[in-house]
Amino acid sequence: MTDLERRQDRSPVPSGWDYAPAPEARDIVTLEERYGLYVGGDLVEPRSGEYFPTLDPSREEPLAEVAQAGKEDVDLAVRAARDAFENGWSDISPAERAKYLFRIARILQERSREFAVLESLNGGKPIRESRDVDLPLSAAHFFYYAGWADKLEYAFPHRRPKPIGVAGQIIPWNFPLLMLAWKVAPALAAGNTVVLKPAETTPLSALLFADVLRQAELPPGVVNIITGDGSTGAELVKNEGVDKIAFTGSTEVGKAIQRELAGTGKKLTLELGGKAANIIFDDAALDQAVEGIVNGIYFNQGHVCCAGSRLLVQESIYEPVIEKLKQRLRTLRVGDPLDKNTDVGAINSKQQLDKIKELVASGEEEGAEIYQPPCRLPEKGYWFVPTVFTNVAQSYRIAQEEIFGPVLSVLTFRTPDEAVEKANNTPYGLSAGVWTEKGSRILSIAQRLRAGVIWANTYNRFDPTSPFGGYKESGFGREGGLHGLEPYLELDDSETRGG
Ligand code: NAI
Ligand code: MG
Repeated sequence: MTDLERRQDRSPVPSGWDYAPAPEARDIVTLEERYGLYVGGDLVEPRSGEYFPTLDPSREEPLAEVAQAGKEDVDLAVRAARDAFENGWSDISPAERAKYLFRIARILQERSREFAVLESLNGGKPIRESRDVDLPLSAAHFFYYAGWADKLEYAFPHRRPKPIGVAGQIIPWNFPLLMLAWKVAPALAAGNTVVLKPAETTPLSALLFADVLRQAELPPGVVNIITGDGSTGAELVKNEGVDKIAFTGSTEVGKAIQRELAGTGKKLTLELGGKAANIIFDDAALDQAVEGIVNGIYFNQGHVCCAGSRLLVQESIYEPVIEKLKQRLRTLRVGDPLDKNTDVGAINSKQQLDKIKELVASGEEEGAEIYQPPCRLPEKGYWFVPTVFTNVAQSYRIAQEEIFGPVLSVLTFRTPDEAVEKANNTPYGLSAGVWTEKGSRILSIAQRLRAGVIWANTYNRFDPTSPFGGYKESGFGREGGLHGLEPYLELDDSETRGG
């Protein structure tokens, strides 16, 4: 009865609404002390002889050691992939290829709890998100591309689709397994083989995925997984045996890769940063919009390339929106990623936390007004309180640069033209949100926004059938949908249409 109190003669009522801890069991995950590289169907020791620890960012505790692949290791992985491509994988029937993809999808579903816990342990994201978003979507990507494997001729009629060869794929730490799925599924469906490099802070779900590949009896060498930092990624980009590079990460590294590949004939797709506008018109359903704003920027601690990090509010509703938003922020629960009630988990790394802190300090210095709800943070680990900046000018760094953390910058506008102008005033062009009752306004605004993905009256929704990718400094090429197959195919145009 500690939480209950008697009020005069009425029945007992709770005196507080604190949530009891609801921890997800951690023991479903078995970790090795040390992991090698997954090359040619086996976990092998790195030729480099080097390892580094990977952490649980919510406790700053090491979880395991992983290999730091060097040049020789990258060479071996690429050779294994080339071998697998030439000796079997590119020739087996497309329906047979589909079978492996379906198997992988089903195994991911069967082992989804294990993967969700591992993803939250190694990356810091709330278990609610890894369980309800990352895992279902990862499986869905494999199911979706499994369906295309034997239908490529229909997907690209009269164009004789052929696989490219060996795909080098470099992924970031914000959605480790999901980015793996986005890259591996279309590559295999199109008949390529893969060398994948996960991010240095979140390698564990990719290494567990190697076990899924074994379970699915995927032929050795079709997918190889090499861990390491940026230097491993750079070796993979340079490697002459690679026919295509797919990269998701920072604009800075994306530009360096593009320079490196200029003139080599290797294919390239880049999915880089963003600074998306989430635009709220005065006729929008405000409570729904506030939920969309929160989901847009605090989902996955704001470690989201398409995050709605610039809120554009029509001036006439500025006050009620900010009031409701602050109220909602006070109810967000920040803490243990493995607690099922947690809304905002740990920041992925010390490096990312430092970057967030630096940009937030710049916002305060430049004159923006900061709001952070009262919040007790755990003592150890990397944490940042959900933050809103008002009084933000377009020239401030917090309105220009990608923060990649739980930090929202609020700007206002009066007319639809002004909203479009401000939304497009960024070097990026990945995503945007529009909130209004009027269907016609949604269409007219969406046409004028220079962004690859535009959500209307919702935000951060993903589906494997829908292409995703950016304009300008957000990169080029599309992942997902039919479009996502194209970068993995040689499409011969010589056979003329209707001939
Ligand atoms: P990053 O771009 O350095 O890392 C992403 C991946 O690229 C990792 O696997 C990394 O090992 C690899 N990499 C690093 N340098 C490389 C190189 N020279 N050649 C080939 N591969 C290389 O991103 P980082 O440093 O982790 O984050 C910095 C910022 O980048 C973040 O604060 C955020 O703004 C942005 N970012 C954007 C992402 C997105 O989804 N578009 C994902 C991750 C970061
Ligand atoms: Mg970096």
